[in-house]
Amino acid sequence: MEHIRVAPEDRVFVLTGAGISAESGLPTFRAEDGLWAGHRVDDVCTPDAWRRDPAGVWAFYSARRAQGEQAKPNPAHRTLAELEERICNRFFLCTQNVDDLHERAGTKRLVHMHGELAKARCENACGRKPVEDHMVYTSLDAVGRCACGGRMRPHIVFFGEIPLEMEHIEREIARASLMVVVGTSGSVYPAASFVHWAREGGARTVYIGPERPLNAHAFTQIVVGKAGEVMPGLFVVE
Ligand code: APR
Repeated sequence: MEHIRVAPEDRVFVLTGAGISAESGLPTFRAEDGLWAGHRVDDVCTPDAWRRDPAGVWAFYSARRAQGEQAKPNPAHRTLAELEERICNRFFLCTQNVDDLHERAGTKRLVHMHGELAKARCENACGRKPVEDHMVYTSLDAVGRCACGGRMRPHIVFFGEIPLEMEHIEREIARASLMVVVGTSGSVYPAASFVHWAREGGARTVYIGPERPLNAHAFTQIVVGKAGEVMPGLFVVE
């Protein structure tokens, strides 16, 4: 069995994508039966879609909310939480996923660069923080308004918007000596560039997933398999 060694001086940066939640029953985006096979990005995940059809956007994310709340963390989420428990602040996780399965598995040091399903925020840049929101909306009437008058929108980074926490993420990549990427096709930027940034800083880079991602050439090691099957026991903390 392959192992990933974590030395006492290593700092680990983990990037996860939809693949890590696949075994929890949540569909990925680009699989044949994935989310983008059943929906057009332009209809549900762009600033323009929100302006044109906020009800349709809320319907899409409400359905994903309902599905996300049913899902449970799988052994891959738990393996990462256990790794963090062992190496504490030498661990940092950035997820592209909007589900909360990492938190529910126990991960603490994490950012959601593409937003969070269980939150909503004002559509205007009025400065108010996102708020928790677990509602499944069936009509726009139930969707609240911010104090500034703006309509509340899903706390999701739409295509064409800037991902969240980028400065924090860049700092963490710059000081990482090991980057572990799990279950992402390497087709969405800037996340697909992280492995290159890590290599420039001299880090080892490992990909875990059943298929080679588009940026496979930038990894020093590829562990082929489903995350929930290959990750338990994969990390050897020295
Ligand atoms: N374990 C690990 N990886 C898996 C598994 C599994 N069990 N099942 C599938 N995968 C891999 C696939 O091989 C694929 O490479 O997960 C990847 C999923 O790729 P995408 O569907 O493209 O998802 P992701 O890379 O997370 O998408 C990035 O695109 O639409 C946007 O904002 C959305 O955050 C998302 C971003």
